[in-house]
Amino acid sequence: METLRIALLGAGTVGSGFVKLLDEQRDRFRKLGLEPALTGILVRDPRKARPAWVPEGLLTTDINRVFEEADVVVELMGGTGKAGKLVLDALGEGLPVVTANKALLAERWDLLKAHAMEGLLYYEASVMAGTPVIEPLSGALRGNRTLELHGILNGSTSYVISRMEDGLGFSEALEEAQSKGFVEEDPFLDIGGIDAAHKLTVLARLAVDPDYDWENVRDNTRGIQGLNREQVFAAEARGMRIRLVASLTPGDDGWRAQVRPVMLPATHPLVLAAQTRNALLYRGDAVGEVLISGGGAGSAVTASAVVGDLLRMLEGYPGHPPLPAAVPAPEYKPEHMEEI
Ligand code: NAP
Ligand code: HSE
Repeated sequence: METLRIALLGAGTVGSGFVKLLDEQRDRFRKLGLEPALTGILVRDPRKARPAWVPEGLLTTDINRVFEEADVVVELMGGTGKAGKLVLDALGEGLPVVTANKALLAERWDLLKAHAMEGLLYYEASVMAGTPVIEPLSGALRGNRTLELHGILNGSTSYVISRMEDGLGFSEALEEAQSKGFVEEDPFLDIGGIDAAHKLTVLARLAVDPDYDWENVRDNTRGIQGLNREQVFAAEARGMRIRLVASLTPGDDGWRAQVRPVMLPATHPLVLAAQTRNALLYRGDAVGEVLISGGGAGSAVTASAVVGDLLRMLEGYPGHPPLPAAVPAPEYKPEHMEEI
């Protein structure tokens, strides 16, 4: 049995979930002739309290120790700064990288794209966590011309709005979402719509244009800050629900990406499918309507896709390739959604 040496960057919500699931799924690796072993776990503060299953002796601030003799890097730190540098260092050495970091993918694509084209970058966990959307968009759905897609891609805002529908205030609902490990280190990324915009950018590069511009998505993004219970109840009285929706639609000037709170009928497929979770509604010219829904945040839910990517890599599948070339926006009238 050979050893698979995994350099783990981060042991927070997702990193600690990954350590646990890796151990629980050890047999899946052994069946492939490999014994998974962590070389080390990079953290900011090795003395911080963590779940009992995270091996204390592996926690370190020394990246050289973590990278030494690694076969693969699993990046679960987040952010575009240090995480970006370490991911690029690893890719530069020819090491495959598994990441859940949609901010990095969206904002530093100029540096990452070539490695993704090479098949070194695995990122199923970056959008809708363990619910598969990256793989379908980089595989089966490529048999289509994309007509439009709409997603409830941010778990924290879905959770906050649904708890406001239960009668909680905004801050109280956000605190609850934070206690569940859904919210980014900087909560503005969630409530300001930036996290959903990062994810939409990743999807756009898989579905319509490998160079879809992050700034373009960011500039067309509004979040749910300022949302109050009165608005939530007024929508309910009309048989509607407020949701933060990320959309990619054809427009007169090409593909249009936007993130904004909208009012959807309570019976809309996205509302019914997502509840407090995530959902993606895809429309293609051949396949018609495809609805994918499931958990979009949290420790085990996200770790599931990270372990899945590792196994996929060991089975010989390359990382997720962006679309080889841009496709023009079709003449098609997209679904209208009422903005608030
Ligand atoms: P987190 O709980 O804040 O954990 C981040 C981990 O990275 C911590 O262990 C932290 O160390 C370490 N870290 C951060 N900056 C560091 C630095 N400069 N040097 C060394 N270590 C550093 O974050 P998370 O929720 O697990 O998210 C991790 C990634 O997964 C992010 O990219 C996030 O967007 C993505 N993601 C999260 C979820 C979710 O539900 N949480 C779902 C999908 C994707 P310390 O522990 O010592 O502070
Ligand atoms: N903060 C993110 C969310 C985590 O709430 O969806 C999952 O990407």
